[in-house]
Amino acid sequence: MGPGAGALLLLAAAVLQLTAGAGARSFQVDRANDCFRKDGAPFRYVSGSIHYARVPRPAWRDRLLKMYMSGLNAVQVYVPWNYHEPLPGLYDFTGDRDLWSFLDLTAELGLLVILRPGPYICAEWEMGGLPAWLLWKPDIVLRSSDPAYLRAVDSWLGVLLPRIEPRLYHNGGNIISIQVENEYGSYWACDYDYLRHLLASFRARLGGQVLLFTTDGNSAAELRCGTLQGLYATVDFGPGPNITEAFAPQRLFEPKGPLVNSEYYTGWLDYWGEAHAGSSPAQVAQGLQDMLQLGANVNMYMFQGGTNFGYWSGADYKGRYKPVTTSYDYDAPLSEAGDPTDKLFAIRTVIGKFQPLPEGPMPPATPKYAYGRVPLRKQAELLELLEVLCPAGPIPSRFPLTFEAVKQAHGFVLYRTRLPRDVWDPAPLSAPRHGVCDLGYALLDGVYQGRLERDGQTTLNLTGRAGAALDLLVENMGRINFGANISDFKGLLRNLSLGSTLLSDWLIYPLDVDAAVARGWPQAAPRAESSRARPGPAFYTGAFDTPGIAWDTFVKFPGWSKGQLWINGFNLGRYWPVRGPQQTLFVPGSLLSASAPNNITLLELEGAPPRPFVLFLDRPLLNQTVSPGPGLPPA
Ligand SMILES: *[C@@H]1O[C@H](CO)[C@@H](O)[C@H](O)[C@H]1NC(C)=O
Ligand SMILES: *[C@@H]1O[C@H](CO)[C@@H](O)[C@H](O)[C@H]1NC(C)=O
Ligand SMILES: *[C@@H]1O[C@H](CO)[C@@H](O)[C@H](O)[C@H]1NC(C)=O
Ligand SMILES: *[C@@H]1O[C@H](CO)[C@@H](O)[C@H](O)[C@H]1NC(C)=O
Ligand SMILES: *[C@@H]1O[C@H](CO)[C@@H](O)[C@H](O)[C@H]1NC(C)=O
Ligand SMILES: *[C@@H]1O[C@H](CO)[C@@H](O)[C@H](O)[C@H]1NC(C)=O
Repeated sequence: MGPGAGALLLLAAAVLQLTAGAGARSFQVDRANDCFRKDGAPFRYVSGSIHYARVPRPAWRDRLLKMYMSGLNAVQVYVPWNYHEPLPGLYDFTGDRDLWSFLDLTAELGLLVILRPGPYICAEWEMGGLPAWLLWKPDIVLRSSDPAYLRAVDSWLGVLLPRIEPRLYHNGGNIISIQVENEYGSYWACDYDYLRHLLASFRARLGGQVLLFTTDGNSAAELRCGTLQGLYATVDFGPGPNITEAFAPQRLFEPKGPLVNSEYYTGWLDYWGEAHAGSSPAQVAQGLQDMLQLGANVNMYMFQGGTNFGYWSGADYKGRYKPVTTSYDYDAPLSEAGDPTDKLFAIRTVIGKFQPLPEGPMPPATPKYAYGRVPLRKQAELLELLEVLCPAGPIPSRFPLTFEAVKQAHGFVLYRTRLPRDVWDPAPLSAPRHGVCDLGYALLDGVYQGRLERDGQTTLNLTGRAGAALDLLVENMGRINFGANISDFKGLLRNLSLGSTLLSDWLIYPLDVDAAVARGWPQAAPRAESSRARPGPAFYTGAFDTPGIAWDTFVKFPGWSKGQLWINGFNLGRYWPVRGPQQTLFVPGSLLSASAPNNITLLELEGAPPRPFVLFLDRPLLNQTVSPGPGLPPA
């Protein structure tokens, strides 16, 4: 769409406003008075971010109520495309993915919504919310006007946005504004045709009246490629000494209109192997006070962080690959388990100086329970279960294929070959840097040899007979969600070699562990013979009863190395206590049964403790800073 068409739309919007008449619902930018206007009156939002995909559905209402009781009048919500379109044209809005019920709850509680439908969202979420299947076309240029990318974007927006349109504020709903893309100015492509295309797509499906906006880091350099005429420009920044200066870059692009910080950072995310992040409540409260004093609109990112359940955590790339932890607590005002913190009360006090707080008490923390020690037993080694985990059988290929080439989005793929010759003296099994994405667990004739890592240890010494089975179980630790490298292919990206011999003739097993667990496996499977206490990828199971209650709890992994945990078939995410800083996983009480035994399935990838058990605590341990281990280069 050219600038002419944009002007026509603006004109159409203006005409609609005039004909709407007094008393009609409206949400607009008032440039003359540097503010928003809601139903004609000056309006300011004090908002908080919550991601429904990171909070179990039974807790949505509790978290939103606590946000409302904190004095917020709006919530900011991302829609992760890859959570809703797992395969091209296959849509899922059921259960935990029921966006419509979540939006209904926000309306019921009297909260307005600032919606961020992407298509790219960052959010420290797998691939920034883009579906991994986009990479089935390996040369696709993401976040650009590449026609293959735009086709996929348009069919998704064609499903999502028409269902958003009736919920827009002027149509009687509670959605006051919609963000287009996210921090696009931080991306290398700087493709204005792409932004223009998105603007036209959003307008075509949402009409001319709704306020569309962008947000970027608060530097002119970032705003330059992230903004477009017709999209209101806002900025993102955390607590700092001089708020006027922090907003100055927004004023370069929006000389008039409301000041908006769309992501005021209340804390920060954690990476595996780095110190737990946090920020002081006093500093966060002071920054908020300064912004409100200035008349600015603020969204606090995050207000409720939550959890990267399953395989949904993302990763950053700063000199090396940095995967994000399972917890997305974020040191936010509401903790990962949804409990009010000191930071929440400090923020609420500040808000109370500027607008009336709702009557009544803040709902208390949800009860927690230390269910204690639960012994687990080794059920089977992963290699014994290939027929269960990969019922379709392996894909033969002379050279390795990526996850994307075999259409596996998340989790694990096993690569099997045979030693091409006798190896009497230790020979290095080696992968080029970025050859194994992201972790590869090596076994020779079923005996665990060790781990290869994307930017870490890339060789292992092996000895063995010609024909011995060499297996590499490769794990996707989350696709990069920010920066230049978001086309983050997984699996074996390069050839492996043994000494000077290139390894070839692979059998590739895409594993669907979650489907097997959902079918009741391995509880329902016959007892495996294998109970050998040897290291390597294996399943462990156990069960625990609760004393008639199903309260939230936190599970610790004493002596375990690295793996994935399911309780009653729900994938709670990755644990990695040897790397830290996160030591416990959050287990929402809504997953637990107060009557039937609760079933634990654990896929340990490296090595279990001699007498395996897990420990349920009544508090989280997120802050065990660990020194970088061998094979982990400094950031
Ligand atoms: C913030 O920066 C502005 C512009 O540089 C300056 O005029 C003002 O005095 C500063 N305020 C504080 C509190 O330092
Ligand atoms: C983590 O623990 C260290 C050492 O106990 C402490 O100094 C630091 O403040 C903690 N960080 C957070 C974010 O709680
Ligand atoms: C492999 O063996 C060689 C020769 O013994 C040794 O120098 C090297 O450190 C070993 N590499 C690893 C990763 O163990
Ligand atoms: C990541 O992107 C940067 C900038 O384009 C590039 O220089 C670098 O090679 C990329 N790294 C990988 C591992 O693809
Ligand atoms: C592996 O090596 C072969 C032969 O040199 C080459 O054709 C192929 O592209 C390589 N595969 C990968 C994934 O690098
Ligand atoms: C756990 O598994 C057992 C045995 O299959 C089953 O009877 C029980 O209902 C399961 N528990 C839950 C909470 O699903």
